[in-house]
Amino acid sequence: MTAIIIEDLKKMYKDVKALDGLNLNVPEGRIYGFLGPNGAGKSTTIMSMLGIVRPNSGRIELLGKEVFNDGFSEGNLVKAKERIGYMPEHATLWDFLTPLQTLDIIGLAYRIPKMERAKRARELLEMVDLWEDRNRKVGKFSKGMRQKLLLVQALINDPDLLILDEPMNGLDPKGIAEFKEIIRRQKDEGKTVFFSSHILAHVEEVCDTVGVIVRGKLRLEDTIDNIKREFLERGGYVILVETNKPVDFTGTGWKVETRGENRYVIRASSDVRERVYDVVSSQGAKILQMKVRTPSLEEIFLKVVE
Ligand SMILES: Nc1ncnc2c1ncn2[C@@H]1O[C@H](COP(=O)(O)OP(=O)(O)OP(=O)(O)O)[C@@H](O)[C@H]1O
Ligand SMILES: [Mg+2]
Repeated sequence: MTAIIIEDLKKMYKDVKALDGLNLNVPEGRIYGFLGPNGAGKSTTIMSMLGIVRPNSGRIELLGKEVFNDGFSEGNLVKAKERIGYMPEHATLWDFLTPLQTLDIIGLAYRIPKMERAKRARELLEMVDLWEDRNRKVGKFSKGMRQKLLLVQALINDPDLLILDEPMNGLDPKGIAEFKEIIRRQKDEGKTVFFSSHILAHVEEVCDTVGVIVRGKLRLEDTIDNIKREFLERGGYVILVETNKPVDFTGTGWKVETRGENRYVIRASSDVRERVYDVVSSQGAKILQMKVRTPSLEEIFLKVVE
C-alpha cells in the first residue's frame, strides 16, 4: 500500500498560488524528507493532508483512504487520522498543563484506555528526556522542550504514518540526535514518516527519499544517493590544477576555465585526475598541485531550488 498519494493538488490563498499541481507518492515504510525553501508550500501540503487547509482541487489518499477528491471526504479523513500522528510547525500546546496531562488528554481523544495512556506517556517522555519534567507546566518550557513534547504527542496513538512539519526547529544537537533515533525506530517498526525541513543536513542521514518542493511544485524526488550521483554526472566534479607552464586542454571534452597563470578549473562528469595528469605530461608540463572537489548536498539543494 502507498502511505501518501497526492495528485495535481492546487491551493490558492486569495491571489497567492501556494500549491501549483503538486504530485507526491510515498510508499509505506519510507522515511521521506520533504524539502523546500521558505514559502515553497510545505506546510500547506501537510495541512491539506490533515484537513486543516482546504485545497482548491486535486486528490489526496492517505493509508489507502481517499480523503480528498476536489473536496474532503470527512468519514475517510477521520478514519485515516486515527492512524496518523501529526506535529504542527507552530507550537500549539496548553501552557497551563503538564506534559503528563497533555499526553493524557491527547491519548483520550484517540480513545486509548487509561492504563495504556499512562504507560505510553511514560515511555514517550522517557524517550525524549522529559520524564523528570513531567509535572512542570508546559508554559515554563524552553523552545526545544516544547518541540520534544510536540513530537511525542504525535506518537501517542502509535501511528502508522507520522507527519512532522519542521520537527527539528529549535532542537540542540542532542535533541536532533534523539529525534533521528526516534525516526529510525519508526522505520524499524515498518512505519512511514513524512517530514518537512528546509535544512538538507537534517534529512540527509535519516531519509530514504527526498522530495524538493519549489513554488508549489515537486521539482525533484529521489534517493539522496541518486540525487548526488546524477548531479555529479552533470559535471559536478571540480578539479583545480596548477602547472609549471601553460597547458592546452582543448579536445578533452571538459569545461576548463583559466584562473590566473597556469591555474585551471576543470569541470567534468567523473573524477578525471589521472587523465589530467596524462594531458599535462604529454605537453611536457608538470603538475604543481591538484585538488578535487565535489559539491556538498547543501550546494546541490541550492542549485535545484534556483
Ligand atoms: N493563511 C495564509 N494566507 C495567505 N497566504 C498564505 C497563508 N499560508 C501560507 N500562505 C502563502 O502560501 C505560500 C506557501 O506557504 P507555506 O506556509 O505552505 O510554505 P512553507 O514551505 O511551509 O514555508 P516555511 O519553510 O517558511 O514554513 C507562501 O507564499 C505563503 O506566504
Ligand atoms: Mg512551513
